[in-house]
Formats: sequence, structure tokens, C-alpha cells
Amino acid sequence: MESGWADWAGILLRFAHVLAAIMWIGNSLLFTWMELNLIAPREDDENDPDLLGKMDMLHGGGVFHLQKRVLHGDAIPERLHWFKWQSYTTWITGFLLLGLLFHSNGMTLLDATRSDLSAHGATAMSLGGLVVGWLFYDLLWRSPLKKFPAAGVVVSLLGLFAAAWFLGTHFNGRALFLQIGAMMGTCMSANVFVHIMGNQHKFMRALREGKPHDMSLGKAAKMRSLHNHYMTFPVLFLMLSAHFPKLYATETKVAVLIVCVLALMAVKHLMNMRYHFKGWLVSIFGVVAGASAIIAFLLKPEPAMAMTDLKGDPAAAGRLVFERQGCNACHLDSMSQIAPGLHGVAGSMQTLADGSLILADDAYLRRSILEPQAQVVKGYAPAMPPYAGRLSDEELDLLVAYLKSIGKTEAGQ
Ligand code: HEC
Repeated sequence: MESGWADWAGILLRFAHVLAAIMWIGNSLLFTWMELNLIAPREDDENDPDLLGKMDMLHGGGVFHLQKRVLHGDAIPERLHWFKWQSYTTWITGFLLLGLLFHSNGMTLLDATRSDLSAHGATAMSLGGLVVGWLFYDLLWRSPLKKFPAAGVVVSLLGLFAAAWFLGTHFNGRALFLQIGAMMGTCMSANVFVHIMGNQHKFMRALREGKPHDMSLGKAAKMRSLHNHYMTFPVLFLMLSAHFPKLYATETKVAVLIVCVLALMAVKHLMNMRYHFKGWLVSIFGVVAGASAIIAFLLKPEPAMAMTDLKGDPAAAGRLVFERQGCNACHLDSMSQIAPGLHGVAGSMQTLADGSLILADDAYLRRSILEPQAQVVKGYAPAMPPYAGRLSDEELDLLVAYLKSIGKTEAGQ
């Protein structure tokens, strides 16, 4: 189904994206860690008024003796490292991946059972989300609210969760988690581009013009760096979420997302408090256990009531079994790279991995579910777990009824 070049582009972009992100986030974590753990100048350092802080780090068979200093125009080091390309590369490759995997066919973003948006509408909503997300966040932190950081954080998070709720009424779980991750990642990269690099350019220009080192510019950039720092764990988690389909293939996906984001920010905060708060490690275990318990509760299947209500409608009851068994974690309503879409499959001819053609009749559907490795669809990895022994006969009948209801319609030839 995918043309060869798109597959290759996907592989190269994914790897470049992950590499750049590791380099960027590694830097972000290390620099913030250094900021937080710098030792303030002592009295015996008074003869060095330019010293802002220092620390020693053992690595590679020697000690890195690090100083953070005020810079003077007449003593700008010849080689001064800026750290920006990891961030830009992460964003550019991520944006191209979004385009390749989702925007090229907006239907892959949607949950077709809830949304009647068109493919273009879905793509526009995703792109618009990136822009609106940044504008909301940036203007908020330029407003007077920035003088009250705690309130700023609360409003930023409320904005993010409102976006997740709204997008969750249209997007499927996998797309929703990636979209929110992409919106946060866009804010992080734009922070680097606009504020962190922007302010560094400003004060370096001033230095070269012989003006003194303006520390306020650095401070503003540092606030954005700190925001980026707290976004790292949630963004990493959301970007990896395609590997945890259980978390998003549920009605409660928005609530699960919120719990994950809050818990990971709390974990990062507790890690930062390591040297000031004795109970940091116990608290981390507490946060993780608490968040896991809430998520387990959110994932609990709804009571069986709905099933009996649907007795007279096997296709609808089958849809429910489909969701409860987590089939929709891999099988979205449209084609994806993980698994084939199942619309139009029942009653049509399927090509298997060995090139043979087979009619997708009841027997084929049953075998596809019970022992999927026996007949693997061409173009996909044999990644579907066998359901033999995990479904009752009734559930299997209902699943087949559902698949037939979305199968090749009588209207088709
Ligand atoms: C872990 C991901 C995953 C889950 C969960 C999963 N599948 Fe699949 N499914 C796949 C993949 C990958 C294929 C294609 C490869 C193959 O045929 O085994 C597939 C193939 C199929 C096919 C054949 C489609 C065709 O085009 O001929 C059917 C039918 C199907 N799955 C139904 C189900 C049902 C029903 C469930 C839930 C009980 C389910 N799947 C759960 C990954 C998954």
C-alpha cells in the first residue's frame, strides 16, 4: 500500500528524529541540572566578581572544572558553543514525519466513529493546533501573568488539557497523543528559536558593541529553558506512546493523557529537588504508584450493561467487543503502518504475504482473529497476537458480525 520511497523516508526521518531528540534532550537535562547544582561563589571568590557559580564533575578520567561567568566584550572566546541545531533538527524531522504519516492522509488522524471531519479538515486541525498552541503559550508568558509563575503554569496546563479534550473529540487515541506531544515539542523548539537564541543574539551583539553583559536577557531565556526542561519527560512519553496502545485505545484517553503529563512533570520536579528534599526518591515512587492506580481505574472496562442493551444488534455489540479487546489499538478506522484498516475487508479478496489471494469469508475472518500468524496480510509484520483461547464463541461471532457490517457493502461490486 505504501510506495517504496515513503517507507524509506519514514525510516530515515524516524531515526534522525530520535537521534536529534536524544542529543537535544540530553543537553537540556544536563544544562538544567548544572544550573540547579552550581555552587554559588563564596567569600574567597570575591576577587573574581565575574564568577556566577562553579562545580566539578568527574568524567572520562579527569575533572571538568566548570565555571559560569559574566562575559565581557573584549574577552569573547573564539570557540563559543551555542547548542541549537539539535533542537531545530528534532522539530524539522518531526514535522516532516507528521506530514508523511498523518497529514498526507488526514483520515489517519481521525476517529471515524466520532468525527465527520474531512481528511483536509483533520490535517488543518492538526496544523492549526501547532500554531494556536504556540501562540497561546507564548502570549501567555509575555503577558503580566509571567510575574506569577505558579498561575502561569496552571493556565498553560489548563490550555493544553482543553486542547487535548477538544482534539480528542475528533482524533483517534494514537494521533491525539502524538499531536499533543507535537504541540509541546513545537513550543519547546520555538522557545529555543525565538527566546533562547533570540536573547543570546541580542546580548552577544550588545557585548560586541562594547556594552556590558545584560543579565536580564539571560534570565528571560532561562525561564523558557526551564519550561522546556519540564516538558521533556511528557513529550518523550507522548512520542513513544504508539508503543503503549493500551493507554490511548480507550474512551478515557484524554484523562489518561492528563494523568501521564502531570505525573511526569512531578517526577522531573522531584528529581530536581534531590539535594534539597530528603524524601525525593520515595515521593517519585509515590507519584508513579498513584498515577498507575488512577490510570488502571480509568482503563477499567465499562460494566457489561451496554452489551445486553445491544443483544438485538450483533454488529454494534461486536464493535463493543472490538474496543474492549483492544483491537482498535492497532486497527484504526483507516489504514495505518501498524495494522491494516478493516473497513471493506470482509467479502473482498485479500493478498497474503506469500502472494496468494484469498476470499475474506467468515472462515478467513475467524482464522485471522484466532491464529493470525497462519495467514499474514501482505505488507504487514506478523504482529497481531493470537486470540485463540481469549475469546468466547459468542464474542467471536459478534466480532465477525461487526467486521461484516463494515465489510464490502452490497452497493460495492
Ligand atoms: C498488536 C496489534 C494488533 C491487535 C491488538 C489486533 N490486530 Fe488484527 N492485525 C494486526 C496486524 C499487524 C495484521 C496484519 C498481519 C496479519 O495478517 O497477521 C492484522 C490482521 C487482522 C485481520 C486480517 C485483515 C485483512 O486485511 O485481511 C483481521 C480480520 C484482524 N486483524 C482482526 C483483529 C481483531 C478482531 C482484533 C481484536 C480481537 C485484532 N485484529 C487485534 C495487528 C493487530
